[in-house]
Amino acid sequence: QPLFEHLAPNALASSFKYVPQAAQLSIRMAQVTHWTGLLGPDASPVSTQVWGYGAAGEAVTWPGRTVELAANGEPLSITWLNELADGGTPLLHLVPVDTSIHWAYTLPGYDYQIDTAGVPVVVHVHGGHNDGAFDGNPEYFFTPGFAVKGPRWQSETYVYGGPDWNNVAGTCWYHDHALGITRLNVYAGLAGFFIVRDEADTGLPDNPLGLPVEPYELGFAVQDRMFRSNGELFYPAFPEDPGYFDFIDEEGVELPDDLFPEGGPTALAEFFGDHMLVNGIIWPKYDVEPRQYRIRLLNGCDSRFMRLCLNLVPYPDTTPRTGQGSRVPFYVIGSDQSLRASAAEVEEVEFAPGERLDLIIDFKAVPAGSRVILQNLLGDAPFGGDRSKMDDLFPDRRTDRVMAFDVMLPLSATADSDIVNGYPLGGGTDLGEAGLIRRLALFEGRDQYGRLQPLLGTAEPTLDVEGQNVNGALPWFAPITENPALGATEIWEIYNATGDAHPIHLHLVHFEVVGRQRFKAVLVEQPVEESDGSWGSGYRLEHIKRLGNLRAPNPQEQTRRDVVMALPGEVTLIKARFDKPGRFVWHCHILSHEDHEMMRPFHVGDGPF
Ligand code: C2O
Ligand code: CU
Repeated sequence: QPLFEHLAPNALASSFKYVPQAAQLSIRMAQVTHWTGLLGPDASPVSTQVWGYGAAGEAVTWPGRTVELAANGEPLSITWLNELADGGTPLLHLVPVDTSIHWAYTLPGYDYQIDTAGVPVVVHVHGGHNDGAFDGNPEYFFTPGFAVKGPRWQSETYVYGGPDWNNVAGTCWYHDHALGITRLNVYAGLAGFFIVRDEADTGLPDNPLGLPVEPYELGFAVQDRMFRSNGELFYPAFPEDPGYFDFIDEEGVELPDDLFPEGGPTALAEFFGDHMLVNGIIWPKYDVEPRQYRIRLLNGCDSRFMRLCLNLVPYPDTTPRTGQGSRVPFYVIGSDQSLRASAAEVEEVEFAPGERLDLIIDFKAVPAGSRVILQNLLGDAPFGGDRSKMDDLFPDRRTDRVMAFDVMLPLSATADSDIVNGYPLGGGTDLGEAGLIRRLALFEGRDQYGRLQPLLGTAEPTLDVEGQNVNGALPWFAPITENPALGATEIWEIYNATGDAHPIHLHLVHFEVVGRQRFKAVLVEQPVEESDGSWGSGYRLEHIKRLGNLRAPNPQEQTRRDVVMALPGEVTLIKARFDKPGRFVWHCHILSHEDHEMMRPFHVGDGPF
């Protein structure tokens, strides 16, 4: 398998951007033949049928073209159109769909077949301070021609931007969010960057921060995938498939024989591909000049945590696997929804699904003519979990390598930037004092078939909005338990009672990571209702005791955040202000988890709920 043979397209290049002059765009979702790079031992060039986003009159691409918007600028309306159809006939999904989990077409009154009614989609601008009606809630889904609309569907057109929206520069993204099928729709290609600019970070030469600008400002979406030898996307969904795993055997729980007709397809506990792609290209390289570059990264993987470093190797690269070059330090200047207050020099940075990183890499610090590999120091497994099983499945995997930068281009006349000396950047606003502490928890339960089913819930007895006292793991459809008052600032203490790390994402807000602390508690098993009225299992926590000291956030977390890594055995504290009314969601950003019940609605302000 050839590594690093191709130039990755740069998602932030102006040819790949919508910098809307008009206040209105229509962006369609459609199937397209996409050039994926070289595949297999023979290095055959392959094309792949994928789903992408594209404006009327423009090509549909994977990733979707970058939308760029000014903070506090004119609002932008986007009409999102589901064109996953051929004439009047809906397209089949590109990968097998598990219809046994809680998803769009198992909702009451939604007795449709995906092959005839079509694929439900809905777009969420992740990191956007969206109004409730335009937030891309999983129950706002729609099929081609809006023939089927989700139970909470509100509008064909979503409005972003304006004074009420994000008011500092940051790196948002947009992706599919339809109930119970998000992982597969994103896998098919439905994701793209959504960049916010402000007066400091203009993206133009002479910007007040002195940041590198195009062509020295780059955007790379990192995603892992599997392929058939002909280049088609492959997604393991049957127990005999390569890459299929759900930890059921490990824990000695057998799937009942009568679980699925013909044994599948079934949702996975997690998905780990055996190829790394950047902007939809397998193991690409990018040629750079010996100067500073600003590089934004998106972790758009289903489940893959990364610990990234830069590994300097000779060119051409002959090192067999990991860690044989030397480390190149780099600078974190921001992440998620904002810049840091100053650049932080690091040698490694953790990178969870759903997160974004805003980095400065100084390629003049390495010898001209060398290669710098963006490398992942973690294996193929849930973070905190057991990696040996995937090591056995993929002994020759190269997913520890993401992409390469070849320092091959001559230095152009454009002045280099100078961000490395603690240059002051933008920051967040004060969220105010927290009026309420809310204790929440992450659990690892089992669904009615015995499959692993991760769940969110409360960590203490809580009155839901219907007046019931509940405690512990709850399914998506249970009545609202998180009902912040409009304008309230709250601390959320998120107790992770599972064995793995989960990247927890809240819609609407930008939060501060307050810190992390170890805890112990007693896990008490209790039944959890499933969407079909049967029962699975979950837990509640009793006798919680926090241990040791609160640990400060990591450098990349000292920004306006919307994803936070909740580590096993720890409570993670975040502070957020809930300042728009209505229904939003919080969930794990491991897409396989969010689709299989690790997601809950929250409601800001008064009902109806
Ligand atoms: Cu990136 Cu609720 O999602
Ligand atoms: Cu999770």
